[in-house]
Amino acid sequence: MAMVRRALLIALLAVAALHVLATAIHRRSADEEEVLICQGRTPCGWALYNKTNRYIYDFMKNRCTCDGDKKCVRDYDDISISSYVYRCKVEESKPTQS
Ligand SMILES: *[C@@H]1O[C@H](CO)[C@@H](O)[C@H](O)[C@H]1NC(C)=O
Repeated sequence: MAMVRRALLIALLAVAALHVLATAIHRRSADEEEVLICQGRTPCGWALYNKTNRYIYDFMKNRCTCDGDKKCVRDYDDISISSYVYRCKVEESKPTQS
């Protein structure tokens, strides 16, 4: 089981790295470190669950984070990797202001 889980984590990390390379932009400001923003449909994290009972046993963050007004929320269930995929979405409870 440990090996299966490790293989899964490696696969997820590889996917995450590709997503980041493909779609993330770099933001630079004078004194701060670069911050990767999850762009478009890039997942911001994965909740790994037990296939049998769907109990979530781990959460993996992607290396990018959501842009200011967005939150990392559960988006869909990817049964091929037994994980709920999280994406950046605008918080709907908050009224928009401009
Ligand atoms: C998943 O849940 C089942 C049933 O509770 C348990 O027997 C099994 O060991 C669990 N697997 C993992 C990977 O936690």
